[in-house]
Amino acid sequence: MSEAPHGAPIKTPGQLIAAVIAGFAVPIIIIVLLAYYVDNSTRTGAGTDSLSEAEVTARIKPLAQVDVRDANAPRVYKTGEEVYKAVCSACHASGAAGAPKFTNTADWAPRISQGFDTLLHTALAGKGGMPPRGGTSPDDYSDFEIARAVAYMANNSGASFPEPAQPASGAAAAPAATAAAAASGAAAGGASDAGAAQAAAAMAAMASVPQTAAAPAAGATQSADASQAGKALYQQVCQACHAAGVLNAPKFGDKEAWAPRLKEPMDTVYNYALHGKGAMPPKGGSSASDADVKAAVDYMVSSVK
Ligand code: HEC
Ligand code: HEC
Repeated sequence: MSEAPHGAPIKTPGQLIAAVIAGFAVPIIIIVLLAYYVDNSTRTGAGTDSLSEAEVTARIKPLAQVDVRDANAPRVYKTGEEVYKAVCSACHASGAAGAPKFTNTADWAPRISQGFDTLLHTALAGKGGMPPRGGTSPDDYSDFEIARAVAYMANNSGASFPEPAQPASGAAAAPAATAAAAASGAAAGGASDAGAAQAAAAMAAMASVPQTAAAPAAGATQSADASQAGKALYQQVCQACHAAGVLNAPKFGDKEAWAPRLKEPMDTVYNYALHGKGAMPPKGGSSASDADVKAAVDYMVSSVK
């Protein structure tokens, strides 16, 4: 009987050599692979650039982005025809939902007889199946542009309204006092006999403010000037978010939304308005004076008292 035990794996010199080589080679291969694996972090998915700076920035960018527009930037207004084609034609071209049809004089005659101011008011405020501003936001189409669309539609359907006058160098850019004066003029019901431009500016100031704003906001302790400036700033800047509660901003006139915030001292609330908080940009993204921002806060707060 040979010395080698039965079933020993290595029986020939050739097998021995192979085993010795494998004994060296296998650990070396494993070490190489391990080293490669450790180094792997910089090489996710051969051929992709999923970790490139641009890709990463795109992935970690904030979900909601606030596009704060400069209220003083010169504005290019769309024509009535452009607004009509982009927005109003959705319903008014076919007469969908009972809308008076474009160029159909029979549909329009009784409406035109109400006068331009009434038509504009309906277009801005909505009525039955007609959504306020045709469903657009004041950020996208100013009151002036809506007014142009109304004139365009009506004039193509039997009316001969004059083209609405462009707000004097932008109602938004006018000094706060002017805007406030225009707004209070409108509130007093004097809009219809004022010039067309003033009416448009006043409508611009009024239309997007919730009804609660109609109540005089001046607190007993405030000077009329401060409250006017606050109201004007609110209308120019803050209402972009606070009128509809954009980005969860506490809504103008919404007691429930404001109550928890007003538990804090007024100085803290002013501070948030001046320096920002969450999605609330410092001063609402404007460059208004501290006093005006505080006045705007007072104006908003007075709506929930
Ligand atoms: C979603 C459909 C829809 C869109 C979009 C729409 N309208 Fe209307 N509109 C209507 C309907 C429906 C009526 C009829 C309302 C009624 O008399 O009850 C109407 C009526 C009107 C009137 C007549 C109001 C009156 O006092 O009789 C005007 C003016 C008007 N729309 C302007 C516009 C303008 C300007 C736009 C675009 C900025 C627009 N509409 C977009 C559906 C729409
Ligand atoms: C871009 C949108 C936006 C604009 C414009 C804006 N706000 Fe705000 N505001 C917010 C949001 C969102 C909150 C809620 C912030 C939070 O609680 O995290 C807020 C909260 C506030 C609060 C309550 C802070 C608190 O919790 O006590 C005040 C006061 C305020 N805004 C004042 C203003 C004033 C004044 C202006 C105009 C000068 C303005 N905001 C313009 C978005 C806006």
